[in-house]
Amino acid sequence: MEDMSLPDLEAIHRALGTVQDPEIRRPITELGMVDTVQLSETDPGHVTVRVLLTVAGCPLKSTIERDVTNAVQGVEGVSGVTVDLGVMDDDQRAQLKQTLRGGQAEREIPFQRPDNMTRIYAVASGKGGVGKSSVTVNLAAALADQGLKVGVVDADIYGFSVPRMLGVEHQPTQVDEMIVPPVAHDVKVISIGMFVPGNQPVVWRGPMLHRALQQFLSDVFWGDLDILLLDLPPGTGDIAISVAQMLPGSELLVVTTPQQAAAEVAERAGAIAVQTKQRVAGVIENMSWLELPDGTRQEIFGAGGGQVVADSLGRTVGGEVPLLGQVPLDTRLREGADAGRPVVLDAPDSPAGAALREIATGLAQRSRGLSGRKLGISPV
Ligand SMILES: Nc1ncnc2c1ncn2[C@@H]1O[C@H](COP(=O)(O)OP(=O)(O)OP(=O)(O)O)[C@@H](O)[C@H]1O
Ligand SMILES: [Mg+2]
Repeated sequence: MEDMSLPDLEAIHRALGTVQDPEIRRPITELGMVDTVQLSETDPGHVTVRVLLTVAGCPLKSTIERDVTNAVQGVEGVSGVTVDLGVMDDDQRAQLKQTLRGGQAEREIPFQRPDNMTRIYAVASGKGGVGKSSVTVNLAAALADQGLKVGVVDADIYGFSVPRMLGVEHQPTQVDEMIVPPVAHDVKVISIGMFVPGNQPVVWRGPMLHRALQQFLSDVFWGDLDILLLDLPPGTGDIAISVAQMLPGSELLVVTTPQQAAAEVAERAGAIAVQTKQRVAGVIENMSWLELPDGTRQEIFGAGGGQVVADSLGRTVGGEVPLLGQVPLDTRLREGADAGRPVVLDAPDSPAGAALREIATGLAQRSRGLSGRKLGISPV
């Protein structure tokens, strides 16, 4: 009597359906990546799975190999797994591209579609060095940690720093003209820094910036995102105008320090909002104070700037602009950025980590609601 049951092919396929491509983040079975599944003739418990990678030299092939092995290993009757890695041919890649586009026309920005459900925040400031990039990556990581699907565009073409702060180590994968963004801490990230060799400074004029941004938004496979964050360069540059034109539904998150001169900064940021008709989602005050070992707060850059900016912006745009939070100075924030480990994940209870997580929670709640969305119905 046979007491060892043979593995069931259906069950193996179901198991393979739980394996996601690490970057595209869809089951490999849906992406046409599972080519064949074979049981060995001499040892029927041994399964060989042929998996097709999207491109040769895929940086994440060992992850895929491991995940496939683990998934199939768990199926009843399987005694061993061999993963045979191949590469898609042109037709298979074209098919994949079509699957990913899901009816979207070439060169279309998915976030411009009327059924877009992604909330888009452009992180801006009137002056440089106030912590825009730090705030962007930490909010992104915290939101992803709460289970939201998050993407980040480093739109600071001149001073790209987002990949380093998130610890992105490899280049995006390119499937024909579609770019699959790398993922770090569950955040999809794309940056101009990934397209220039070495650390060369980029000198680009306005029209080129506009085109680069257009490409980031249309050719990158973002999938269904809950939130897209854009890290803007400081000031009121061309890129802020391009963002507003390409993403009319995007809202501004203004980052400032507590200094009193901040009010003037707010006016500049407000001027962009008025000019581009963008909504201002709120103000984040960064470097608000330093918490001393005895628990007291040292206000190194003064106090009250965030609220002043929020009030002043509210007057400029003619509506209420909330102060979303105050982020203290914290060496762990800078160390985390240097190490590619956002403080919200590494030291979630540190003063800066906790403050940023709280701001993220507020944004997540706001983003899940329907406020500010066009509902396509008219009031009666
Ligand atoms: N709350 C904070 N505590 C400690 N260090 C901080 C804090 N916020 C930012 N920093 C540090 O200040 C520096 C500038 O921050 P960041 O690069 O995020 O600013 P930015 O506004 O994006 O700058 P730029 O205008 O150059 O793009 C970084 O070294 C960062 O680690
Ligand atoms: Mg920056």
